[in-house]
Amino acid sequence: MTKRKGIILAGGTGSRLFPITSGVSKQLLPVYDKPMIYYPISVLMLSGIREIAMITTPQDRAQFERALGDGSHWGVSLTYIEQPSPDGLAQAYILAEDFLNGAPSAMILGDNLFFGHGLPDHLEEAAKQAQGGTVFGYRVTDPERYGVVDIDADGKVTAIVEKPEVAPSPYAVTGLYFLDGTAPAKAKSVKPSARGELEITSLLELYLDEGSLTVQQLGRGFAWLDTGTYASLLDAGNFVRTLSERQGMQVGCLEEIAFDAGWIDRDALAERAEYYSKNAYGAYLKGLLTETSKIK
Ligand code: G1P
Repeated sequence: MTKRKGIILAGGTGSRLFPITSGVSKQLLPVYDKPMIYYPISVLMLSGIREIAMITTPQDRAQFERALGDGSHWGVSLTYIEQPSPDGLAQAYILAEDFLNGAPSAMILGDNLFFGHGLPDHLEEAAKQAQGGTVFGYRVTDPERYGVVDIDADGKVTAIVEKPEVAPSPYAVTGLYFLDGTAPAKAKSVKPSARGELEITSLLELYLDEGSLTVQQLGRGFAWLDTGTYASLLDAGNFVRTLSERQGMQVGCLEEIAFDAGWIDRDALAERAEYYSKNAYGAYLKGLLTETSKIK
């Protein structure tokens, strides 16, 4: 199988968070101690992906390049692609077609935060699948706000619907999609929805029709956090703070993931620790150089 590549969709106007986002992209806002975009990048890196396309608005691109560079600090390569207008999640596959060049992909939304013990196992399982698509279901109290997946007793997907008035199940489809190399071609056949967008759900329906859509449930103990309102943005930050301070382990630390994966060496990690030497993030990176615990 050609190596799976990553896509992060970080477009949009962030209008739901105005005035915070009047001058800065939503996905660069802080979630406790790092920009929001670090968290989705961490999910792709934990999936073993090292080639990532960052899709941004034309006006925000420079900010992202300044914040993230070319990715080499983390042993990955970042390519920037502009989305001239936000015409739906499925559009990302059309914009990234040349970048993907036939490869399977994992796409994650730039404002989606995932956390849970065992997440790397779920990601590995999805990444192994060369054909078809995998989505992740997550039980929520308000499924009508999302894409919703219905499953039968064997855990097979029977339907997928975008923001239904009456949800067929409590399982929201999270913003993380592992699709095979046919995604760009399929995306091109998707017709705009009533809200004028190329819906990811329509693209996923094509996989469902082919019988090649799998759902993995992220169960009890997983956090899939929203950052769409002032309150949920603050809650996400507090969640990360609570966890990382209690355990002394970072959430979404890209240097740590890269170091553990062997994508950067000790010298590179030491250099990053030095760069951040004035704060707790730097102290944490320094600590990794002498860390002996194997339990993560
Ligand atoms: C989008 C998708 C929806 C998915 C959600 C996850 O919704 O259309 O299927 O469940 O992302 O965050 P939107 O953010 O466009 O309302």
